[in-house]
Amino acid sequence: MAERPYIVGNWKMNGTRAMLSEARAIDRAAQRHMKVEVAIAPPYTLIHAVHREVEQIGVGAQDCHPGTDGASTGDISASMLADAGAKFVIVGHSERRQGHGESNALVRDKAQAVLDAGMRVIMCCGEDAKTRDAGKAASFVTHQLKDSLPGIENAADRLTVAYEPIWAIGTGNTASSQDIAEMHREIRKLLIELYGEEQGGGVRILYGGSVNPENAREIFATEEVGGALVGGASLTADSFMGIALAAGDMLDN
Ligand code: 13P
Repeated sequence: MAERPYIVGNWKMNGTRAMLSEARAIDRAAQRHMKVEVAIAPPYTLIHAVHREVEQIGVGAQDCHPGTDGASTGDISASMLADAGAKFVIVGHSERRQGHGESNALVRDKAQAVLDAGMRVIMCCGEDAKTRDAGKAASFVTHQLKDSLPGIENAADRLTVAYEPIWAIGTGNTASSQDIAEMHREIRKLLIELYGEEQGGGVRILYGGSVNPENAREIFATEEVGGALVGGASLTADSFMGIALAAGDMLDN
């Protein structure tokens, strides 16, 4: 477990203003568990409202455009997100890579735009079931990451990597502890190669894919797991903070 585990909720395309009470409840609970860093990425439409409502938790976005401004109908730039109160942006989620045809090069440009706007990056990676069944998961993920990550100074502070096997997202199937440990070791090796022993060694690597309060302890006990990127179970304060509490318990034991 990382020195300060990072538990991030990705609300995806969920949430109207009625969900602000849930964000407040998450914030209140997070204030009682400061050893765990808690954050949520609501949809664009709620970023500013959540930012205004909370004191402790981080607020971020789920994507951004790589450019700074201009004629790009329907897009949102990194600096606009920072202006709305975002402190980080998730980039390269498989639902963007697959559903919107995002290439590694585009994901890298988005990550660079996030850093240029003074925010932190959560870089997602992960293989599909076919790639894992073919025994190519590790080489796929390391290549994907290598091609998606920009050069970063102070990577330990500014970058988080989230390993989210596509077949585990929203399916109820989590990767085994052994598969997670093996993949996180590979990712750590690459981060040290790219950013050096100290910075690359300090980047937190999150696991994502059907994490819930029941399976969180086993996942957090796994080597090189620095927290979780949570989808469905982040939509209520009870289940999301159940996961954060599990991370806090690991620190105490
Ligand atoms: P679930 O936790 O719903 O499987 O989603 C994981 C995810 O994609 C988080 O980014």
